[in-house]
Parts: sequence; C-alpha cells; structure tokens
Amino acid sequence: MHIVFAASECIPYVKTGGLADVIGALPKEIAALGHRVTVYLPYYRQVREKAPEKKPVIRSITIPFEYYNRFVTILDGGLHEGVQICFVDCPELFDRESLYATPTGDYLDNWERFGLFGRAVLEATKQLGVPDIFHVHDWQAAMIPVYLRTTYYFDPALRNAGCVLTIHNAGYQGWFPPQTIERLLLPWDIFTMDKVEQYDTFNYLKGGIVYSDAITTVSRRYAEEITTPEFGNGLDSVLRSRGADLHGILNGVDYTLWNPETDHNIAAHYTPKKLAGKLECRRDLLHAFGASQVADETPVLGIVSRFATQKGFDLIAQIANRLLNEDVFLVALGTGEPYYEGLFRSLHEQYSGRISVRIGYDDALAHKVEAGSDIFLMPSRYEPCGLNQIYSLKYGTVPVVHATGGLDDTVEEWNGEEKTGTGFKFHDQNADSFLAAIHRAADLFRDDKNAWTTLMRNGMGKDFSWKEPARQYAALYEEVARRRS
Ligand code: ADP
Ligand code: GLC
Repeated sequence: MHIVFAASECIPYVKTGGLADVIGALPKEIAALGHRVTVYLPYYRQVREKAPEKKPVIRSITIPFEYYNRFVTILDGGLHEGVQICFVDCPELFDRESLYATPTGDYLDNWERFGLFGRAVLEATKQLGVPDIFHVHDWQAAMIPVYLRTTYYFDPALRNAGCVLTIHNAGYQGWFPPQTIERLLLPWDIFTMDKVEQYDTFNYLKGGIVYSDAITTVSRRYAEEITTPEFGNGLDSVLRSRGADLHGILNGVDYTLWNPETDHNIAAHYTPKKLAGKLECRRDLLHAFGASQVADETPVLGIVSRFATQKGFDLIAQIANRLLNEDVFLVALGTGEPYYEGLFRSLHEQYSGRISVRIGYDDALAHKVEAGSDIFLMPSRYEPCGLNQIYSLKYGTVPVVHATGGLDDTVEEWNGEEKTGTGFKFHDQNADSFLAAIHRAADLFRDDKNAWTTLMRNGMGKDFSWKEPARQYAALYEEVARRRS
C-alpha cells in the first residue's frame, strides 16, 4: 500500500510537542513493514533553515480561494529510511516567525494556511501518487478529508483513497468564522451541526472526524475519555456517533533517540544491569542547572513540558510551599503560556535552594533531565498519550502521574509487596493527591534503595517501541482500503 502522512510537525525539521516525535517515527515503521510512505509537511521558515535549497518536484500548483489564487511549490525533502519527505512551500503563509501563533495570539489566517495545506496535499498526490490511505493528523491536516469528500468527491483520481484521522489532542480544534466555508470554496450545505458546524463556527477537527473513514487517538483510555463531555471539548457527541470507527492506538517511542544505552546527549550511558552511569547523569544535570550542592540522598524531581493549562502545573503552585520546604530538588525545563513561565520563574526566585528552572526549548537538555532525574512529574489535567513518562520509564526515572489518558495506560502503580509496578499515580486531580503521590515516590527513594532499584528496572524493562502500534495502524489501513475498494 501507499500511505501519505500529512501533519504540521515532524522531527528533525520542526517540533513544538509530541506530534513531531510521532511523525518522525511512525512513518519509518510503516515503511519497514513494506509499505510506500510519503510525508507532507508545510515548509515553514524553521523547516527551510533545517532543510534549505530543496529542489521542486512540482513547480506550481494553483490553489483557488474566493477572490484570488495562491501558488504552491512542492519540494523534494529526500528519502529517509524508506520515507519520502515532501514540503509544501508557500512563503506568504509559512515563512513566518512562529508556527501557529505570536505572543499576541493565533495567526488570523490559520484557516487559510491549513486550508491551503490540505488542498495542496491532495493536488500534489494527483501528480506524485495518490495513496491508498491519507493518514492525517490533528486539525491542521483535517481539511484533507473535508475536501476529499466534498469538492473532490467526483475526482476519479481520488475517489478510492481512504482517510484515517489521528487526534493527538482534542483541546485544539481549529475554530474559524462561518465565512471560511466560502473562502475555501467549500459548499455551504456542510455547515450544519452534523457536519462541520460547531456553535456557529467552522470546526476543522470536527470536519476531519465527520469525513474520515476511521478516527484514531493516541491511547485507549483517551479514546474512551473523549466520548464524554468532560474530555470531549464539545466533540464528544460527534465522536460517540463515530464510535464504531474510533480506535485508541497507544503511541510508541523511538528508542534509537531515547535510550540511556546510546543517547549522545547524556553524560554517561547505563543499562538496567549497570546503573552506575545514571548517577553521573544526575551530577551532570545538577551542574547544568547550577545546583551541584544537592546531596545524593535528596530526590531530584524533573519536569520537561510545554507550559499549557493542559499540563496541570497549577498543582505545582498549590503544593510549592509544602513540597519545596522538604528535602527534594526540582528541575524544570519548559516554555509556553506566559502565566506558567511566570509561575516557574517566581518559584525559582522564592525557593532558589530547592528548584532550578530553564524557560526555553532545548532538546539536549530534555534528554539530560530524563536521564538525570530520579522522579518525573506529570500532573496533566488530561493527556492524550504523553511521551515524557514513557521516556522516563526507559531512563529509570520513576514517573508520578495523574491517572488520565495515556498516563494511565502506560504507568502501573508500584506495589511494595509484590514488587511490581513502574511508578506512582494519583486519581483525583488535586493538590493533596498529587503531593501524596510524590511522597510515596520520594519516601521509597530515600528509605529503600533495593525496592527503588527494582522499581526503576521494572520501568526500564517495558517495551513501548513502535513495532506493535505500527502493526495496528497497518491493519487499520488495510481494513479502510478494503472498505473503499
Ligand atoms: P505534548 O505533545 O502534549 O507537548 P508529549 O509528552 O507527547 O506532550 O510530548 C512532548 C515532547 O516535547 C517530548 O518529546 C518532550 O521532550 C518535548 N518537549 C516539551 N517541552 C520541551 C522543552 N521545553 N524543551 C525540549 N523538549 C521539550
Ligand atoms: C499531543 C498530546 C500528547 C501526545 C502527543 C503525541 O500533543 O498532548 O499527549 O503524546 O500529542 O501524540
């Protein structure tokens, strides 16, 4: 089969979160199963800097809008581990300072940027190869199924192609004014509550859900959660109506990049059998965070995150006074909403002997935090999958997580009698439960080194590679292709 991936982020070209990790890894695994795979990505300024001077494979595609046309060039990003990369170049829309937003808010023409992206991918495949399956990701690629089943409905080249949508985060949907329908030259009759309308806005993700053959999300638990009003962000009823075609497939992780035996970003390598290197990584991390004074018995708690409300860091604010007066040291790396950046900055000032904070995006430092911390904190309000807790398990860094979405599916509570489990979970998303879970972890770290080592090894022994999830996606592609043939 030929599978076309369309997404707004992909490592090593451009990344703001886990979507980029997934698009950097899953296509390779699908290709390794013997399929032809192409990935389409907007040629943002950030991508051009990483991959400059790429040759056009299609010099010009006309993308019509209501009052004007835009012209797109498709660039050859090369073949990497069996995956053909294609960039969608339209400098007026993608050659910008940021991907989606500036500090003052979202780009006002995001409707156009990602409407154009979807239509350009469809047009490009007509010249470069229409796939059996379009595998589209999040709202930024959701116009592909919408165009495919409306404007392009009678196109003989495209009509047998199937479409699978993966929702990485139902909190981001792409809401635009109703007139967007006309601007994108879509028919008004799709602007109804059972199609793309949501409270008088044009909801791109909803369009993707309605018009795709199958919908997946990135853990089993989140697949259940998003069909409830609490987690569905207004899309729960449309997701329930697609229940038979909604699947939870847990993300894998790329152990060629995230593995303490081989990671070139960390101070020393280590394995479940030979853990000594982890202590060296801890020293190196503390040095990098200007905290070399921290004693070996003090548990180091790590955070690496986008700073967004989703991630639950208001709980850190609520427990700070109690937690940071205890014998712990917290290292935090993150960037995002000014409110949370300010929160971490002020904690750093207030409790400088117990916490060190880096505001920014730094991949190498993220690896150091995974390797050098003892405990990793993820109090997310909701978490579709979450990759950092899975990286933590591999690095012998014990996760403390809110039992939601993929966090619940990937972390197993430590059982001191049976010596089973991989981390600590709290079920009620409140300050006391979070602090109690941190205490269970920190107490075990201080009081019982043998049990702690077993706990670390339990996590390090888990296999969250892409092999099994890739097989599940391939089976889904086959099923969708069969339905459409
Ligand atoms: P999300 O996609 O919701 O942000 P995930 O846990 O799925 O959450 O993925 C986050 C990814 O982004 C991980 O690879 C993590 O290491 C990385 N990341 C997040 N914030 C930073 C940062 N400030 N610096 C470096 N990497 C970061
Ligand atoms: C989203 C989610 C995160 C998930 C990632 C990759 O950004 O917030 O939980 O791991 O996508 O699927």
